[in-house]
Amino acid sequence: MNAFSFYNPVKLIFGKGQIEQLQKEIPQYGNKVMVVYGGGSIKKNGLYDQVMDQLKAANLEVVELSGVEPNPRISTVRRGVELAKKENVDFLLAVGGGSVIDATKLMAVASKYDGDAWDFVSRKAVPKDGLPIGTVLTIAATGSEMNAGSVITNEETQEKYGWGSPFSFPKFSILDPTNTFSVPQDQTIYGIVDMMSHLFEQYFNNASNTPVQDEMIEGVLRTVIDTAPKLLRDLHSYEHRETIMFAGTMALNNFLQMGYNGDWASHNIEHAISAVYDIPHAGGLAIVFPNWMRHNLKVDPERFARMAVYVFGVEPEGKTIEETANEGIDRLRAFWSSIGAPETLADYKIDDTKIEEMVEKAMVYGEFGNFTKLNAEDVRSILKASL
Ligand code: NZQ
Ligand code: ZN
Repeated sequence: MNAFSFYNPVKLIFGKGQIEQLQKEIPQYGNKVMVVYGGGSIKKNGLYDQVMDQLKAANLEVVELSGVEPNPRISTVRRGVELAKKENVDFLLAVGGGSVIDATKLMAVASKYDGDAWDFVSRKAVPKDGLPIGTVLTIAATGSEMNAGSVITNEETQEKYGWGSPFSFPKFSILDPTNTFSVPQDQTIYGIVDMMSHLFEQYFNNASNTPVQDEMIEGVLRTVIDTAPKLLRDLHSYEHRETIMFAGTMALNNFLQMGYNGDWASHNIEHAISAVYDIPHAGGLAIVFPNWMRHNLKVDPERFARMAVYVFGVEPEGKTIEETANEGIDRLRAFWSSIGAPETLADYKIDDTKIEEMVEKAMVYGEFGNFTKLNAEDVRSILKASL
């Protein structure tokens, strides 16, 4: 294993009816709250009213910032920072998915900073303080509810980058699977692809002797693969929503990557795609990840063969390591297609005209990836294979 230190201070509050905990949790941090949410799904499914009832019952003063878009934009974050500063709020409550939570994380640190919020994303400045935040998660996907990461788009420059700081960990996150009942089929599929991608990013690493971590990741992947089709047949199943919600959080709260340095190259390439084309994050991952795997199979064929056998149940007998490995990648592609995820960039009407722009954006911090390093030529080749 790689040497590591592990830190995750997020209080995870999980289960039906746990929204009531808002009354207990928020007053510890002050009495004026800014509630941040997205395009209105929480108004349609009744969660907005439930949250407001809780805040009212706790005698909290409330300010609202709505309209955070999927692939959250820096202009919206700036709007939130302005409001939080003007109203002098004590606490930020994100009610939504990864986009709302990520935007809230940046609002939190930028509200304690005199410069522009983008400075933290572009690494021009490092957060030194932040308002405390809490989350009520509404979609199982990113794991943002239990990590310090945040991904923000600058729509003027068409850049989309991740950043994180010890000040962007939520103080608490409330996860009630019933709040995900209304997530539509397509977003449910995206969430499943995203959490699986997080597990694969961590699984492909350059550490040795990590049998505990490997088995845990394989176990979560097998569970998601088993549960996903059942959930997609019955979107209101509490049991399946519960399993998927817990899997999404475990997939990216860093528990499973102790002793590893995950790869994260596919995410980097996807962020370059969605910076230019504003497509759903996991739509891009479903297209890119299997091509990243084929491109890098020769780096460590045994690792890919292990995935094939332990995650997808490929029978290795009578096959070469490469054949087993390739069959695993075929199974992954087939599984994602079977649940309705996209396969090629053409599914989003993306052709080769902006490949160089995407390569340039992906390469902005130089070669990347921890399983193996990718250069511009590698990225170009993976993007071309994804057309
Ligand atoms: O905006 P509303 O109206 O709420 O609708 C949202 C949005 O349109 C809808 N939705 C969410 N919960 C719902 C619901 N609709 C009905 N019922 C509900 N209960 O779903 C749509 C997508 O929401 P979004 O928050 O964008 O989805 P997700 O959680 O997948 O977040 C994606 C963003 O997170 C970033 C991605 O790049 C992307 O910008 N990521 C963040 C990470 C992190 N912070 O750790 C890691 C990830 O790899 C990822 O990059
Ligand atoms: Zn992701």
